Amino acid sequence: MEKKEQLYEGKAKKVFATDDANLVIVSYKDDATAFNGEKKGTITGKGVINNVMSNHMFQLLEQQGVETHFVEQLSDRETVVKKVDIVPLEVIIRNISAGSFAKRYGVEEGIMFTAPTIEFSYKDDDLGDPLINDYHALALGLATQAEIDQIKAMAFKVNEVMKDYFDSLNVILVDFKLEFGKTSDGKIVLADEISPDTCRLWDKTTKEKLDKDRFRRDMGGVEEAYNEIMKRVMGK
Ligand code: TMP
Repeated sequence: MEKKEQLYEGKAKKVFATDDANLVIVSYKDDATAFNGEKKGTITGKGVINNVMSNHMFQLLEQQGVETHFVEQLSDRETVVKKVDIVPLEVIIRNISAGSFAKRYGVEEGIMFTAPTIEFSYKDDDLGDPLINDYHALALGLATQAEIDQIKAMAFKVNEVMKDYFDSLNVILVDFKLEFGKTSDGKIVLADEISPDTCRLWDKTTKEKLDKDRFRRDMGGVEEAYNEIMKRVMGK
């Protein structure tokens, strides 16, 4: 596997071409942003934690029948993944009220839902990732109805697997964001990352936040929270 030119640099990761047209290498950075890049900072060690934790989660999900882009971890920050066209929808599942849900509907954080919710945001930085519904996603040609149905089913399945998994680590999975991609043969697979950047994770006993909200909300103890999640996930 030969690493070739950089294809893309995002807010938290870089993507490189390889000598295989169907594979790319993602490289995780310590850079952190929030509020569509308005707030910028560094979370030391985050790139390593998000890489290792995402790969752990993807392998767990693969074992449970969820297809992902994961191929092989190369180093503490770099992983080979299948090259996909990202479906420009951020898929958000919520088990408990928090964040933009609490704000939008004027409710407190921490209300447990009787059933998980799903919503989509249109992945477009210039527009600030606006909330979008199925009809609008179809009208814009972002995905087909069959793809949207498959993405929803996969997202709820991911929630079931992850909820149980985090529960076993004494962590509550409050909500999370997923992204899906389309492989060259048209298959929808789970892509991007699953990390404290993209999930809200609360300690089950103390309800302490162990995720990026500590950075977004200037709460301090950001690195400590990422390290604590890494310790629980990797058992060290
Ligand atoms: P929200 O409550 O701000 O809409 O966030 C819901 C979940 O999605 C939360 O776990 C954080 C995650 N998220 C991202 O991964 N990327 C984003 O850009 C945003 C806004 C949220």
